[in-house]
Amino acid sequence: MWCDDRMREAILLVGGQGTRLRPLTLSTPKPMLPVAGVPLTVHQIERARDAGVERIVLGTSYRAEVFAEHLGDGRDLGVEIAYAVEVDPLGTGGAIRNAAAHLTCGPDDPVMVLNGDVLSGVDYAGLIEGHVRAGAVVTLHLVRVEDPSAYGLVPTDEQGRVLAFREKPTTAEEIITDQINAGCYVFRRSAIDAIPTGRVVSVERDTFPALLADGAHMRGVVDDSYWLDLGTPWDFIRGSADLVRGIAPWPGHAPAVSLVLDDAVVDEGADVGGGTTVGRGCRVAAGAVVQGSVLLDGAVIGPAAVVTDSVIGAGAMVEAGAVVAGCVIGDGARVGTGNELRAGARIWPDVVLPPTSVRFSTDA
Ligand code: GDD
Ligand code: MG
Repeated sequence: MWCDDRMREAILLVGGQGTRLRPLTLSTPKPMLPVAGVPLTVHQIERARDAGVERIVLGTSYRAEVFAEHLGDGRDLGVEIAYAVEVDPLGTGGAIRNAAAHLTCGPDDPVMVLNGDVLSGVDYAGLIEGHVRAGAVVTLHLVRVEDPSAYGLVPTDEQGRVLAFREKPTTAEEIITDQINAGCYVFRRSAIDAIPTGRVVSVERDTFPALLADGAHMRGVVDDSYWLDLGTPWDFIRGSADLVRGIAPWPGHAPAVSLVLDDAVVDEGADVGGGTTVGRGCRVAAGAVVQGSVLLDGAVIGPAAVVTDSVIGAGAMVEAGAVVAGCVIGDGARVGTGNELRAGARIWPDVVLPPTSVRFSTDA
């Protein structure tokens, strides 16, 4: 159990470049992208706060200033926020070590560490309590996934002791388990202080295997509550829609088919659903269909346009009758009438696809 006279602390890793989410992350760091209208970082901070965390150190690097501008000292969220900025990114382990300079707890106290791009329903307080009770050096939240190849594999024995780490396996033989690192750890503070300073360190490839080789007690806790890494556009869209529809945990939010934010205007002849978020100041015209999508602030969807499973950037326009399915449209871009974009297309900010008069048919 956390000692009551100590500050309960966590580190949030938010310094990655979010390359897979380009072009959305050209201007906004991945954790600050709005998921159901609220930056993912805010969702995470609120869940940590509700689990008893009082102070959070943000390990920032890429576009570090954006976090402080939005979150300040954390007062509005009911926590204390400190910032540990890496001039050059130090990797996940280096970032955790760098953030430790802002911790106030003692060497034996537990510190929760979270990847900044994960939406999860895991019981943080339960993880921390279990960690302290077991006297572990590190506890890892694990989840089972169908295709573990894009993650860190973490097999455990019957007692939950970690047996190995295999980060991003490249061959079928390396896929020795479907249990993966869910990007949420509880560290004994002294194990963080032992990470080397001032150089790039990967917690997954360097720190965890080294601790294991030293015989440190490392626990894995497999949990089957909601979990999603929002690192790709398609998972970002899914996570947002899951929050809106009440599939992902969001205390105080009533499940809905769509979420329309302030000053947005959706014509009553438009069909908006599937967990779509309509951002502040957006406009959706009559006859438009918008399903399972994220419209960032100020986006405009023209009459009879069809937008499915897509992100439409801030101030971007999808003009009358255009089709956008499974795509990312950058901020300020314009998809002119008659264009049809499908399956994975990414349009960079401010690009204009002119209208075309060539007609297409959606009939088979
Ligand atoms: N401060 C800082 N500095 N943060 C960083 C750095 C860095 O140099 N590099 C990455 N991060 C942050 C990212 O912003 C993100 O929130 C988190 O660390 C994880 O980085 P990703 O780039 O999203 O890693 P991943 O998704 O490929 O893999 C990680 O997460 C998986 C679960 O989602 C690993 O931890 C895997 O083992 C794990 O399975
Ligand atoms: Mg990730």
